[in-house]
Amino acid sequence: MIPVEPVVGRLVVVGLGLIGGSFAKGLRESGLCREVVGVDLDAQSRKLAVELGVVDRCEADLAAACVGADVIQLAVPILAMEKLLAKLAALDLGSAVLTDVGSAKGNVVRAAREAFAGRLSHFVPGHPIAGSEQSGVEASNAALFRHHKVILTPLAETDPAALAVVDRMWRTLGADVEHMQVERHDEVLAATSHLPHLLAFGLVDSLAKRNENLDIFRYAAGGFRDFTRIAGSDPVMWHDIFLANREAVLRTLDTFRSDLDALREAVDAGDGHQLLGVFTRARVAREHFGKILARRAYMNAKGSSDLVFVAQPGGQLSGRVRVPGDKSISHRAIMLGSLAEGTTEVEGFLEGEDALATLQAFRDMGVVIEGPHHGRLTIHGVGLQGLKPAPGPIYLGNSGTSMRLLAGVLAAQPFDSVLSGDASLSRRPMGRVAAPLREMGAVIETAAEGRPPLTIRGGQTLKGIDYELPMASAQVKSSVLLAGLYAQGATRVTEPAPTRDHTERMLRGFGCPVTVDGARVSLASGKALVASRIEVPADISSAAFFLVAASIAEGSELVLEHVGVNPTRTGVIDILRLMGADITLENPRQVGGEPVADLRVRAAKLHGIDIPEALVPLAIDEFPVLFVAAACAQGRTVLRGAQELRVKESDRIQVMADGLQVVGINCQPTPDGIIIEGGKLGGGEVHGHGDHRIAMAFSVAALRASAPIRIHDCANVATSFPNFLALCAEVGLRVAEEGKS
Ligand code: S3P
Repeated sequence: MIPVEPVVGRLVVVGLGLIGGSFAKGLRESGLCREVVGVDLDAQSRKLAVELGVVDRCEADLAAACVGADVIQLAVPILAMEKLLAKLAALDLGSAVLTDVGSAKGNVVRAAREAFAGRLSHFVPGHPIAGSEQSGVEASNAALFRHHKVILTPLAETDPAALAVVDRMWRTLGADVEHMQVERHDEVLAATSHLPHLLAFGLVDSLAKRNENLDIFRYAAGGFRDFTRIAGSDPVMWHDIFLANREAVLRTLDTFRSDLDALREAVDAGDGHQLLGVFTRARVAREHFGKILARRAYMNAKGSSDLVFVAQPGGQLSGRVRVPGDKSISHRAIMLGSLAEGTTEVEGFLEGEDALATLQAFRDMGVVIEGPHHGRLTIHGVGLQGLKPAPGPIYLGNSGTSMRLLAGVLAAQPFDSVLSGDASLSRRPMGRVAAPLREMGAVIETAAEGRPPLTIRGGQTLKGIDYELPMASAQVKSSVLLAGLYAQGATRVTEPAPTRDHTERMLRGFGCPVTVDGARVSLASGKALVASRIEVPADISSAAFFLVAASIAEGSELVLEHVGVNPTRTGVIDILRLMGADITLENPRQVGGEPVADLRVRAAKLHGIDIPEALVPLAIDEFPVLFVAAACAQGRTVLRGAQELRVKESDRIQVMADGLQVVGINCQPTPDGIIIEGGKLGGGEVHGHGDHRIAMAFSVAALRASAPIRIHDCANVATSFPNFLALCAEVGLRVAEEGKS
């Protein structure tokens, strides 16, 4: 602990148990208080507290201890609080700040109001959410509150200066301090802590009372043990808490009882669909909420915000690999499968964070989806009119495709929805979908400059429109087409250049009449979608990293299996071939309406080119790694007409230019592209900016670097390519998480 200047004169801690003792000891060690005085009814505890250095001195008498106190911490059992407050109210406490550690706040505040009759400006109610299975002053631990939450529930009349002192004390102990209203605190704790304890105590007792109890406990496997671990907690303390937080506990218990009754009915009625719905949602709920709280697409196991990749220089690629499923097709499979009538089976689904965000969104709206398990999903479609309102805002992490396409679906629902995302998604333009959807009759509110979150008002009647896309965007096209499923009359979208047509293809596969006439797509509404089988090919956007890697690493030969080669996606192959790459398509076939092939790539001498603008939308996601190819090519590569790159997960023109310059490449960003002079690559320290494709592009660049490349902020690689590092290792690309081999 870093020593600090004393800001509190005398701290008095009443009640020297685990919590009071740890608070006293931690603050005494920190130096924040000039003197720490303990009060306890038990003589042994008082003696130990001094011997163990928990306090400077102890008093048996409350009045004696409180003389000259600046802060008084009440750390007695919650049911003893009422009497203690009454005693304190009878003393002259001067301007001492009063605070407490009770696990329920409503009753403590009520007792304080009665005792102090309106003189509450120096009272700061608090609750540290920390503990241990040990108890008593001998278990005092100065580090007990480090990285634990402490909730302060200041009252309307609480003096801000008093609040600041208590806040400062907890922060000095390393706690994460939050402020909350008393009622809210009690509701939240009733649901997250008190109810689970009640269930654990209740379940163990219920089973223990039965005649066959020995057998039950003999065969009680991990599930029973895990679920009931907390039934080993202190009965007296918990009895206190339930009596103290009666109203809030009853409310949460009643809600839970009705949910439990619904489960009982489902079991009774053999309603597997209902059970699956609950279980599949619950299974992922903890992880899902963890992501929302961290406002990220992906939380790595260590919980650190900077995942660093270190890519070793040199290497050669060989072998046959299959990269994960296509992201765009995976999103659409969930959406159309959910809106179809019947059961859709999906294979090859991308289990990356972006597609999982779409999956979770539809689960939130009541669709039962089994899996994913090794890329397999079973979607129990609810029909076009079968979605239910999500229980709260729908969080889409890093995924622009989820937000834009969902906006089209949700614009036509009878209920309101809110769509939000992580920091990167919250910066991306959504006006481009809001504008045409509004033209169709949708009511959509955005944050400033058309950014997320989106609030979509339900209950609107949409009409088909004839829309000219102002930019080449498959997401906008798809959003309008999906809204068109619900619109009165036909919906037509004309694009300035061809973009990926997976939505059109899949809609047809689900029996929806979509026609294409040159640059114009038309969709007639009013027809139900029919469930289908979908096999998702490997994602050419993920394969692209290995196409470039094998091209630039001398002596490489690699086969990428079962890659989707839809002509609206193969710009990367065309561009690399124009640069001299050796890529052949083998075993071409059709899989569920999408062309697929195995791609063989051999190392080749690349040369710089002027990238034809017509190819830009057909390779839009592959430019970060194409810039790496250009950096390794002989001569100059020029890209124009690619301003869309500036509004992807990062500003991919600027971010790639910055990184390439760090590793010694001469390049010049322009408003709508970049000029790159091929050259020699050194090593260095670059930033992924939370953009998966930037992180992977620089991993590939190291093949031609003279020293390692360290890449910061790589966690979002999991949005599109969760096993990227494992596949790199398999084919000979030496990149790993820092600290791991
Ligand atoms: C996508 C379309 C493209 C692409 C994105 C996925 C899709 O975005 O960059 O990764 O699945 O429709 P734009 O429509 O913004 O070009």
